[in-house]
Amino acid sequence: MAVALVRAPFVEAPNTDLAPIPAARPLLPPAEAILPYLERIDAQRWYSNFGPLLGELEARLAERHGPGVHAVTAANATQVLALALQAMDLPRGALCILPSWTFVATAHAVMLAGLRPWFLDVDQDSWTLDPETVAEALAHAPGPVAAVIPVAAFGRPLDMGAWRALRDRTGVAVLVDAAAAFDAVAGGAMDCAGLPVAVSLHATKALGVGEGGYLATEDRDLADRLRQASSFGFKGSREARFPASNAKLSEYTAAVGLAALDAWPETRRRWVRSSQLLRIALSPLADAQFQPGWGCDWVSSVCVVRLPVGAVNAVSAALDRAGVQTRHWWGEGCHTSEAFAQELRAPLPVTERLACSTVGLPFAIDLSPAEIDRIAAALAGALDEGGAFGLQDEARL
Ligand SMILES: Cc1ncc(COP(=O)(O)O)c(C=O)c1O
Repeated sequence: MAVALVRAPFVEAPNTDLAPIPAARPLLPPAEAILPYLERIDAQRWYSNFGPLLGELEARLAERHGPGVHAVTAANATQVLALALQAMDLPRGALCILPSWTFVATAHAVMLAGLRPWFLDVDQDSWTLDPETVAEALAHAPGPVAAVIPVAAFGRPLDMGAWRALRDRTGVAVLVDAAAAFDAVAGGAMDCAGLPVAVSLHATKALGVGEGGYLATEDRDLADRLRQASSFGFKGSREARFPASNAKLSEYTAAVGLAALDAWPETRRRWVRSSQLLRIALSPLADAQFQPGWGCDWVSSVCVVRLPVGAVNAVSAALDRAGVQTRHWWGEGCHTSEAFAQELRAPLPVTERLACSTVGLPFAIDLSPAEIDRIAAALAGALDEGGAFGLQDEARL
């Protein structure tokens, strides 16, 4: 039986003479919003090494997470993850469980921290590790497991209670990769109590500074050790207490971060608006499914939709012909990258299906109604073509 396709009634054949709609179009604070902070830097002549602007940025980030939380910044979320694992003082060479369905940064961080990745499959609904599956896997692990990194897929909140329970039950350290989930973790949709959470502030994220990231944690010792790990192993003196890195954020990046936080309530409203407009435009397309809660309960800077299994290459090619760029943010899964091809992995059938059934549509905080219509028209047309190729209902996840 062919897939049921519902074509949007208002869509017209896309005009391919128009400029392509890029998969991402980041928007950071404008120069005039950053200027007052830059003037403070000029006046203070303090440019890096934990200056007053960085202190203010970390305090304001921590405040968003609630009482008792420390926010420790670093050069990017990859460094935050790697240095946080290092700061946890886990046995070198031990296994760290992570999903293959994540950005390669998660796996790089594991290896930078001297741990060995063990890729497990994800749950087909949440697109992330399931704590019960992890608990079962621990029983037949190919070696000692020191940590697990659940990933908030494209910013979707995780069930943190279940992860706290797993940590308490097994003693395995849990570090949450919430790189794309600033809104969920700092806005209350995800109850982060008790677990360290890494967030990216990359330009492509909902709250961007260019390059940057932070760890939110209630664990004072972990916060201190991460700070040391990001600053040559120094703590109160110039003695390197352990092998470490330099991953500090400068005052200039902090200036952008403070301006971005000033604008966050309006920025969030604009993310919601863009998401809602896209949801409405795609609502007639039964074969394009948004992540649950996307643009409603939580916001993200990316829009990844699920299509019938196997449709992705044909749909992406058709969208590309219509000047609508797509992005396979996580490729075929980390395990297929040369860097990780030799690492341990369990069977990954859900990851493989997600790789050929999900696609990142163009998304931006300022998508215009005309762009949204073009995306909807192109996707409707591409799915129609897919119907002609005979995609099967049973092929759905
Ligand atoms: C799941 C995930 N983890 C980690 C990162 C790394 O973040 P950064 O670019 O700040 O290093 C990203 C970046 O997109 C990501 O998507």
